[in-house]
Amino acid sequence: MTLRDRPRPTLEEKAALLSGRDLWSTQPVEHAGIPSIVLTDGPHGVRRQRPVEGSGLHDSLPATCFPPAVAIGSSWNPSLAEQVGVAVGQEARALDVQVVLGPGVNIKRSPLCGRNFEYYSEDPLLSGALGTAHVQGLQSVGVGACVKHFAANNQETDRMRISADVDERTLREIYLPAFEKVVKDATPATVMCAYNQINGVPAAHNSWLLTELLRDEWGHTGLVVSDWAAVTDPVRSVRAGLDLEMPGTSGRSVQRVVEAVRAGDLDEAVVDAAVDRLLDLVDRTTGGDIGTDLAAGDIDRHHDLAREVATECAVLLKNEGALPLVEGARVAVIGELARSPRYQGGGSSRVTATRVDAPLDALRTLGTERGGTVDFAAGYTVDESGDASDLLREAVEAARTADVAVVFAGRPESDESEGFDRPDISLPTAQTEVIRAVAAAAARTVVVLSNGLIASVEGWHQDVDAILEGFLLGQAGGSALANLLLGIDNPSGRLAESMPVRLSDTASFVNFPGEQGHVRYGEGVMVGYRWHETVGIPCRYPFGHGLSYTTFAVHDLGVDVTGDDSARATVSVTNSGERPGKHVVQLYVATEAGPVRRPVRELRAFDKVELAPGETRTLTFDLGRRAFAHWDITSASWVVPAGTYVVQVCQDAATVTVEEPITLRGDDTREQLTLESTVEEWSTQRPDVFAGFLAAIPADSGVPELTPELLRVIAGMPLRKVADLLGDAVPTEVLDQLVAGGPDVVGDDGGAR
Ligand code: BGC
Repeated sequence: MTLRDRPRPTLEEKAALLSGRDLWSTQPVEHAGIPSIVLTDGPHGVRRQRPVEGSGLHDSLPATCFPPAVAIGSSWNPSLAEQVGVAVGQEARALDVQVVLGPGVNIKRSPLCGRNFEYYSEDPLLSGALGTAHVQGLQSVGVGACVKHFAANNQETDRMRISADVDERTLREIYLPAFEKVVKDATPATVMCAYNQINGVPAAHNSWLLTELLRDEWGHTGLVVSDWAAVTDPVRSVRAGLDLEMPGTSGRSVQRVVEAVRAGDLDEAVVDAAVDRLLDLVDRTTGGDIGTDLAAGDIDRHHDLAREVATECAVLLKNEGALPLVEGARVAVIGELARSPRYQGGGSSRVTATRVDAPLDALRTLGTERGGTVDFAAGYTVDESGDASDLLREAVEAARTADVAVVFAGRPESDESEGFDRPDISLPTAQTEVIRAVAAAAARTVVVLSNGLIASVEGWHQDVDAILEGFLLGQAGGSALANLLLGIDNPSGRLAESMPVRLSDTASFVNFPGEQGHVRYGEGVMVGYRWHETVGIPCRYPFGHGLSYTTFAVHDLGVDVTGDDSARATVSVTNSGERPGKHVVQLYVATEAGPVRRPVRELRAFDKVELAPGETRTLTFDLGRRAFAHWDITSASWVVPAGTYVVQVCQDAATVTVEEPITLRGDDTREQLTLESTVEEWSTQRPDVFAGFLAAIPADSGVPELTPELLRVIAGMPLRKVADLLGDAVPTEVLDQLVAGGPDVVGDDGGAR
């Protein structure tokens, strides 16, 4: 028997179910057999706060800290996201957690957003694919996911009040598709509404967002939970489709909901529907026959998985022969971050790791095993205390006597956290000084970066031989980095976000983070690489960029139109180098068809393939009509305009490798012409009727001859205005016929033209 079928709780009990018991759990109703369930953060590990009064963000029970979303984004590998989801789910069950909050599938609109390390990408397709896989993995072991933060939560500045002012095409094409995909393909147990407002309506009160779009259009059957303390008016929220307010409000919201029902301001059926969804969630995440204990060795196994995943996330940005490090090399490891690694961001997602691999330890062990030496100099302090000049001097000394210097640089955790945005994209000055000084002294210099938000490499990238961008790699990142540096593993990450030359080159620069309570998404759909490629502003490293120790050849692209505005592409990829490796095949679509300005190209499919040296694989991609469509505001629907579409397989968003055009018949986008349609619209779409209109003007009416020059001047005028200007010259019957869509206006097939 499900909880829905049991005797109904009272109104007070039902209202109580709709807000939390405390910070992390729901209200039980014991006599009705309704247990409490626990919702807790993640999503790259379980952050189960100790059940101790006053325990804070940094005091949670140990759990495996997998690479956060910024790294998973760079793996371009949904299967890894799924495996992380499964492992986090297993640990959640062992810690008696029923819902793990996440994944976050918000788009990285600006490189300054303080929570970018919690988000996958600037691209909705990549974010949606990884989020879907994570949810599927987590839920496969009976733990509920919570896709967040719905929607348009793309900054931390004023996050609880700001209105994201964003037009519908931009929402539909950029900020919503990742949520849409997760909801449609992974049936998440819960969705978390964002703090912010969308076009002036708080997400927590937004019935268009929470009900019309999420439930009615996309078919979400699960629960909607508030972000923590996002609700200001619980009655409005319940009415809008929000089921669970978190955390609890010591009964205040319960009372308001009860009073509203009693006063007839809130339909009890709406409360019942929300309660049913909560009961379904409790049913779904409790019971079941999935074991709740971790098997012996699972924590070790999860650490190994964390390393395996981290290995695929690091992005080799530059390599002029310095990597992999040669066997027996004398290596100078420089930088405090090699000894005290950064592996996750700050705020609610921060996990207490079960253990942490430091890159320095791993390099020492592996480097000496391979007959080399590893020296260390701290170079700087992470909090920029201490005598910088002494540390710098030691670093330069160590670099001078080594075959290669490996500098670990990055941002301190205190600079990258939930709750605030960054002021710039730079690295700490003390660290860039060390990089430059070491590069000047060392025979070869490799830089390894640890940062949750994009960091600038300007001012030094040209001086170093290689750059390995690790982002934040979770608790086993240190050993993963060592394996990559030594060539035990081959880098295969690709940037999931553009790396600009200057902050002012980025699309949202002039609008971020807004002012006076509003942030205008003035760049529209031109986010990230869509902006850089369309406007022609090159990045230092473009979206999709990433090198390997082997080489790949992509060839033999074929594209066939398959049925109604969909296509199938096949393409082959060969490992043309000497080492096994993984390549990310990125497929974009480019078009100028249709009435709206499209980005130069948009990612529409991708796959990551592992190839032995000399091996070739042929991949097939099915592109549905959405791959070619834009959101059409006139018809409020996805429309594929007739025309040419170029399918491009790219090395990265800026580099096309092979391409193939196709022609699509497209949707019938012709609109019914009216007197408000312009001279140009009439003369191009119904030249016959327009000719009739002109012919109806008597020769002696005094109207000047409509020369091509004059026609050009009036091309943009609605026909009604032209008729007004002509006064009585145009017989009313002719206008009536146009208005009525008479025989001259309506096509022979009876359909409006
Ligand atoms: C964050 C959410 C998080 C919640 C619970 C909020 O401040 O925005 O992402 O899940 O707190 O910790």
